Amino acid sequence: MTYEKRYDGRDFDETRKVEIKMGVIPRANGSAMFSFGNTKAIAAVYGPRLMHPQHLQNPEKAVLRCSYDMLSFSVTERKKPGPSRRSSEISHVIMNALTPVLQLENFPNAVIDLEIEIIQADASTRCAGINAAALALAHAGIPMTDLISAVSVGNIGNKICIDITKEEEDYEEDGEKLATDIPVAFAPRKNRLTLLQLDGKVKPEVLKKVIEAGNKACMKINEAQKKALRDLKMETELPEEEEK
Ligand code: CDP
Repeated sequence: MTYEKRYDGRDFDETRKVEIKMGVIPRANGSAMFSFGNTKAIAAVYGPRLMHPQHLQNPEKAVLRCSYDMLSFSVTERKKPGPSRRSSEISHVIMNALTPVLQLENFPNAVIDLEIEIIQADASTRCAGINAAALALAHAGIPMTDLISAVSVGNIGNKICIDITKEEEDYEEDGEKLATDIPVAFAPRKNRLTLLQLDGKVKPEVLKKVIEAGNKACMKINEAQKKALRDLKMETELPEEEEK
């Protein structure tokens, strides 16, 4: 037995419905919501502003402080509020996935706070978080050399699946867990991989195919992200309505 048909009927190389909303947090300098189906992430950027306390300042570039968290009721079994080992790890990998394209040297001694909140989780939350964060950073006007896109790739019962759900992450055959989750992120312009994690086991030749499939999906996600930014620009450029 293998995983022949996806639980939700999607093609193996298809993401769930991608939904993007820009400017969801008016008080932030930049913000965005990104969803993969039932996985929904919000990212907000505050700054750049002068870093306090002073001894934490870097005179050569801004410091990016990244924080990822999930709402307690975003998951089926209530999550204890507050930071955890998992949230610290994810904050760290998200920061590493984004920094290669950020021109932080434009803001010496400054800090940029990036807050990512998962409001509903059905796997792939770090990838949704990265996609929301890239958009929020662009919305905040932080200069970037590229727009990062991320997707989870699963090796589920020996089938490569794009954008896996929690049900797929928990896939088993004869009581044996047969799902490997491989989140990837790309900077498309130079086709640079900025995130690669692996939860499970995979053969080297399969890993190559996984990265290729992830790359293709990220290119499509990137188009959706760029469209959301273009639409926003068009909106702000519209002439104001005349007073009646
Ligand atoms: O979300 P992501 O795939 O980036 O990270 P994960 O640690 O592999 O978590 C996979 C999924 O497990 C999450 O997206 C949630 O749906 C679920 N989860 C949960 O139900 N309760 C938690 N405390 C953590 C994760």
